[in-house]
Amino acid sequence: MKTEQRKLTSCRLKHNGHVHKIFYISIGFWLILGVECFIGGFHHVLTIKSGGSVTIPCHYDEKNPPQKKYWFSEIDQSKIYTNTSEENLSVIDHPDQSLFTVTMRNLQNKHTGDYSCVVETDGLSTITYELHLRVQPAPDVSVVSSSVSGHEGDNVSVQCFYSFGYKYELKQWCRYKDESCYTVGRTDTSQNSSVQISDDVGRRSFTVLMTGLRLSDSGWYFCSVGEAMNPVQLTVEVPKEKSPDVSVVSSSVSGHEGGNVSVQCFYSSGYKYKLKQWCRYKDQSCYTMTDTSQNPSVQISDDGRSSFTVLMTGLRLSDSGWFISCTGVIQ
Ligand SMILES: *[C@@H]1O[C@H](CO)[C@@H](O)[C@H](O)[C@H]1NC(C)=O
Ligand SMILES: *[C@@H]1O[C@H](CO)[C@@H](O)[C@H](O)[C@H]1NC(C)=O
Ligand SMILES: *[C@@H]1O[C@H](CO)[C@@H](O)[C@H](O)[C@H]1NC(C)=O
Ligand SMILES: *[C@@H]1O[C@H](CO)[C@@H](O)[C@H](O)[C@H]1NC(C)=O
Repeated sequence: MKTEQRKLTSCRLKHNGHVHKIFYISIGFWLILGVECFIGGFHHVLTIKSGGSVTIPCHYDEKNPPQKKYWFSEIDQSKIYTNTSEENLSVIDHPDQSLFTVTMRNLQNKHTGDYSCVVETDGLSTITYELHLRVQPAPDVSVVSSSVSGHEGDNVSVQCFYSFGYKYELKQWCRYKDESCYTVGRTDTSQNSSVQISDDVGRRSFTVLMTGLRLSDSGWYFCSVGEAMNPVQLTVEVPKEKSPDVSVVSSSVSGHEGGNVSVQCFYSSGYKYKLKQWCRYKDQSCYTMTDTSQNPSVQISDDGRSSFTVLMTGLRLSDSGWFISCTGVIQ
């Protein structure tokens, strides 16, 4: 193949207010109205220390997944298609997340250069992401771990370190998928208070605190300082043990003849408006909150939020036995 034919032309196609970047392998019909070619456009700069590794996510359209996905290196004009695993490079598809990941290991100076994520849909190649990788003795922006996880509702924090020269640069925490960013020191009301960023210039790091994690927060983010950035994957898991729908503190209560006992029965929020009963196992007779006339010695009160309390007064010996409190069994 001639060099000229292999030369890639990067273009931006403005369409419905979105900017799509398109490039063609051979020069041809790229003079479509609204296509604006660019040279050296906006780059993300990823700085990795010699011998280090990095994983980069390449998102694609979930509604219209591309037929082909590859990682393109400007250095040797190579295309590495998805589901390739080599010693120092893997390109793995994750259709469930509508992205493929590129992992580069044992990075050396010779790997410094421009790379892009490319997808092919109906014969049309689109650059979805471009970056400039720079291998250097110490990274400009780094994280201790490029993977953090937490359970739903938890808080997680990520510390992003930056080198001295980046002290006064804009510091951000961004989501890859939509490139939405949270900025240090900006009190923007449109920003969710569930993400807080604090800069510690003395330590040359900023800390991102994400509170009350939701499952939808899972995904790829990056710390960004000026034009330098570093990716971080966040995994939000469902809590290991979902609290039971109905529970009691102790499944056994006792009292003396003539005395009183009370049992507190906890229910989850979904049961707020459900019928609450206190039932006797032996004859399946139940007391409900509304019919106090039935037996004035059994009173049920509901706090309307998370628990109801059964109070049995003037206990008789014959009251001994098993009671069912919702799903719990009380002796
Ligand atoms: C992977 O990187 C190491 C370190 O640079 C190198 O020695 C090795 O040959 C590389 N492997 C391949 C398959 O290129
Ligand atoms: C690549 O592998 C993943 C599983 O790791 C699989 O779900 C996906 O379908 C594969 N994609 C291709 C294009 O083979
Ligand atoms: C999460 O962070 C918020 C705000 O700093 C705090 O009020 C809350 O107690 C934290 N929750 C947990 C589970 O640590
Ligand atoms: C803020 O939170 C809402 C839901 O509470 C979500 O729909 C929205 O995408 C969030 N905004 C950002 C910038 O993450």
